[in-house]
Amino acid sequence: MPASRSSRSKGLSRQSASLTGQALRLTAFQPGSIKLVQAKSTHHIAVAVNNVDEALATYQQLFGAELEHRETVPEQGVDAATVMLGGNRIELLGATGPDTPVGKFLAKRGQGIHHIAFEVDDIRASLAELEAKGAQLIDTEPRRGLHGLEVAFIHPETSYGVLYELVTNAP
Ligand code: CO
Repeated sequence: MPASRSSRSKGLSRQSASLTGQALRLTAFQPGSIKLVQAKSTHHIAVAVNNVDEALATYQQLFGAELEHRETVPEQGVDAATVMLGGNRIELLGATGPDTPVGKFLAKRGQGIHHIAFEVDDIRASLAELEAKGAQLIDTEPRRGLHGLEVAFIHPETSYGVLYELVTNAP
């Protein structure tokens, strides 16, 4: 019986892996677009929270998450912490005030998933390619993000309500 249970769970995981592959395809564009922009892996998932310190303590206590980085970027109105959790990076994203992009998001949508970031090799080439294919970009040029990385956001209108961020190491 353990054998059949294990083979059933293998089958399910194969199925969900292929469903995930489908879902990641940007279907409004040419097939394989996400491959062409060279998304290497998910860099982080960002969760908007009212209080970063409180959320950090909760993630540490409940999930054993390890603090990787804590940073406030006043010019972007962002207070953030990144934690590592099972090999994944979660960005806990707070606002420095209500009149900031994250502050407005929290007022309108409440706490929850804010964006998903993909790591790419060449962020400028990825942005140029996305723009040429009709994607709506929030940033046509990369800007400085947390960790000193270069980042750029794709408008959620393009990606079915999900805000995507491209991330690369600054030169
Ligand atoms: Co981010």
